[in-house]
Amino acid sequence: MPNSKIAGIGFYVPEKVVTNHDLARHMDTSDEWIQERSGIVERRYVNRHEDTTATIGAKAARIAIERAGIDKEEVDFIIFATLSPDYYFPGCGVLAQRELGISKTEIGALDIRNQCSGFVYGLTVADQFVRSGMYKNVLLIGAEVHSIGLDFTTRGRNVTALFGDGAGAVVIQPTEEKGKGILTSKLHSDGTYAEKLAYINPGGHSGYHAKKMGDDTDFGYDPDQEFGGLFLTQHMMDNAMTFPNMDGKLVFKAAVTKFPEVIMEALNDQGYTTEDIDLFIPHQANLRISQLVQRRLKLRDDQVWNNIQRYGNTTAATIPIALCEAWEAGKVKEGDLICIAAFGSGFTWGATLIRW
Ligand SMILES: CC(C)(COP(=O)(O)OP(=O)(O)OC[C@H]1O[C@@H](n2cnc3c(N)ncnc32)[C@H](O)[C@@H]1OP(=O)(O)O)[C@@H](O)C(=O)NCCC(=O)NCCS
Repeated sequence: MPNSKIAGIGFYVPEKVVTNHDLARHMDTSDEWIQERSGIVERRYVNRHEDTTATIGAKAARIAIERAGIDKEEVDFIIFATLSPDYYFPGCGVLAQRELGISKTEIGALDIRNQCSGFVYGLTVADQFVRSGMYKNVLLIGAEVHSIGLDFTTRGRNVTALFGDGAGAVVIQPTEEKGKGILTSKLHSDGTYAEKLAYINPGGHSGYHAKKMGDDTDFGYDPDQEFGGLFLTQHMMDNAMTFPNMDGKLVFKAAVTKFPEVIMEALNDQGYTTEDIDLFIPHQANLRISQLVQRRLKLRDDQVWNNIQRYGNTTAATIPIALCEAWEAGKVKEGDLICIAAFGSGFTWGATLIRW
């Protein structure tokens, strides 16, 4: 069975730069607070009348396809990871397919809803498709437009300050080179804290699961409503229940435990240690999380790539954007051992080792 490799990579971030000072004009926050807690200096937002998650995903994809040296019609499967799809349904996979003008072959398209770990999960699915021989050019896109779904009042500042828009894409192909390409992936999830980093409404069931688990948080669930109309109520709108919610401290603690665990699991699987890693690209959730993970793994600064300072957390897009930037900067070289890892909502997390 061949391994699969990243044959082409690209990213796109919108031109509009939004600094912490810009946010402070809308909510009670400061550049100092945001930088100190998260490392973020600025992020990018799309112009909502020009771009969507699918269109910026397609922009990144065009670059990845060109760098893979294939024609768009040679793509034989699309995987699109996002938590901010353009529509409730259908997913962004088919929208990107249409945007890219991939039409001749009626290829398959699949959406992945794994939030921050969406790219690692997507890469693992692509890897399996390619290894099995089912597909030869899988296009994997991770893209988010957060800026249209955030609460820009002081109420939402703990979440809004962290997130930005952006997209990254890779083309996965088989490789016959021994020991090259994707070596291993380890994926995990634990639904215990599903509502602790979530976008619950509009969702139809308004925290039903949380209630069942004994969580008294008001997510807008109305037990008297028999059917219909559950998607958006005045109560939800009045009480900020139509925005993402996050228990930042809980997420932080879980992330700094699970990141090192899953990375060590992947390294042990291949008989490597942290010293063997040439470049570690953590999901860009928070610079403090990345720095703590780096310290726990005893990685040198030159072994880690962070760019959250400039883009914020772009969820499913952070890893392909950072990987692409590092590659463009000459930090990802032939034969290097690259480790990518993510943790986020679900909770879901995972790590992949790639011999470039
Ligand atoms: C969100 C996060 C930066 C908040 O930092 P924190 O030190 O935990 O801060 P807290 O949430 O305890 O809030 C402390 C205070 O700052 C305030 N605050 C929150 N966001 C703020 C902002 N943007 N600007 C100014 N003050 C803010 C809070 O209201 C709180 O005020 P209070 O003490 O008067 O109640 C941090 O918890 C975090 O990064 N968690 C992980 C989040 C993450 O990575 N999410 C994505 C996962 S993929």
